[in-house]
Amino acid sequence: MAKKKYLCRVCNSELENIFDFGNMPIANNLISLKEQENNKDEYKYDMKIGVCLNCSSLQIVNVPKKELMFNNKYAYFASQSQHMKIHFGKLAKDLMSKMKKEEDYILEIGSNDGIFLKSFSENGFKHLGVDASENVVQAAQANGIKSICRFFDDKTADELLKSHGKAKIIVITNTMHHIENCQSVAKGVEKILRDDGTLIIEDPYLLDMYKIGSIEQVYAEHNFIWSLHSYKTLFEKFSINLYDVEHFETHGGSMRYFFSKQNIDPTNKMKKYIDLEINKKIFDINTFLNFRDNCNKICTELFEFILNKKNEGKSIAGYGATAKSATTLNFSKINNKMVDCIYDSTPFKIGKYTPGTHIEIRDANLFSNDNPDFTILFAWNHRSEIMKKEKEKNSKTTWVEYIPKLKLTDAN
Ligand code: TMP
Ligand code: ZN
Repeated sequence: MAKKKYLCRVCNSELENIFDFGNMPIANNLISLKEQENNKDEYKYDMKIGVCLNCSSLQIVNVPKKELMFNNKYAYFASQSQHMKIHFGKLAKDLMSKMKKEEDYILEIGSNDGIFLKSFSENGFKHLGVDASENVVQAAQANGIKSICRFFDDKTADELLKSHGKAKIIVITNTMHHIENCQSVAKGVEKILRDDGTLIIEDPYLLDMYKIGSIEQVYAEHNFIWSLHSYKTLFEKFSINLYDVEHFETHGGSMRYFFSKQNIDPTNKMKKYIDLEINKKIFDINTFLNFRDNCNKICTELFEFILNKKNEGKSIAGYGATAKSATTLNFSKINNKMVDCIYDSTPFKIGKYTPGTHIEIRDANLFSNDNPDFTILFAWNHRSEIMKKEKEKNSKTTWVEYIPKLKLTDAN
């Protein structure tokens, strides 16, 4: 049978299939004790990754229905990280200094629990958050942040245009890579953004993912990994131009992109990253194949390490029931016979079980009491914050990091 062809959702070129993960659960679909006891069949989808050698976009080719991923049981609450609060607090402060309180309005798409809009609300700026998951919207509303529960697309844009008018600033952080129909978002942004307005997007960056081998950044909810070239390709169709970027270490390496409807000359920094992407050969299939080999190596190393330590009778836990760890755990076939539990501070996650692998999620407050022999740091992107916190509590363990390669660190 001929292999099915998939087209790039950014530029419509044919995609190269580089990774077949097999049946995967939805990463944020944590299961309850009851579902775990009943061994309820979980929803799984055949996760395949394609790359576009025309625009450099990396994407899941068969994304599950959006309602299965974003609903009233969404497990990710961004405000769990102090570091991310500071990170977005800085952006908010900078933007508020450029906004006129009475005239300008800021729209955030994917506003989660209000981590970013909080400062705008506290300082009396006109703001609105849109998010597709009801429980995180409720958390934001409870903190006085104006938010509505909607999938943002071209149609929502018409509605928001009528109710709120045009926005001076549109911010989309750690969200654009969640949205399968990126064309509809770009069309919606085109309608709402003022001619003198700024669109700011931020999410995990393709070159960082290649560099550290973090294939686990990809799961149903993270169905795109973007680059300067792929974003330029998408937004130029809607006469929205990329003119600047800023790189951050957050989430294993993220890029912040600045766009305008005006023709602003690209900054030197942006030109530097455009050249870097070309020099790093993001349009060459071999780059993707090397990345795939590196990721396979990382998953095998982690699996063998855990198996060996388990056979020696050691206790093994995880820290951070992250969505991305669902990719690594399921792909590497690491299950609840190998990892005793995963510690996490998110109230919504505690007492539930990881999707597919059914590992218990325990309250992170118990960690310094339990002191497992080895702890896999699944929330490796919050490394400093977590290690510092647990050191202060005198927790005893050996931290195990696996990206970019296996690394052991004593907690004290
Ligand atoms: P993320 O990598 O997608 O941001 O997820 C991080 C997870 O780790 C999230 O479930 C919250 C959890 N976490 C803790 O349990 N303790 C911490 O100190 C931090 C920063 C995160
Ligand atoms: Zn493409």
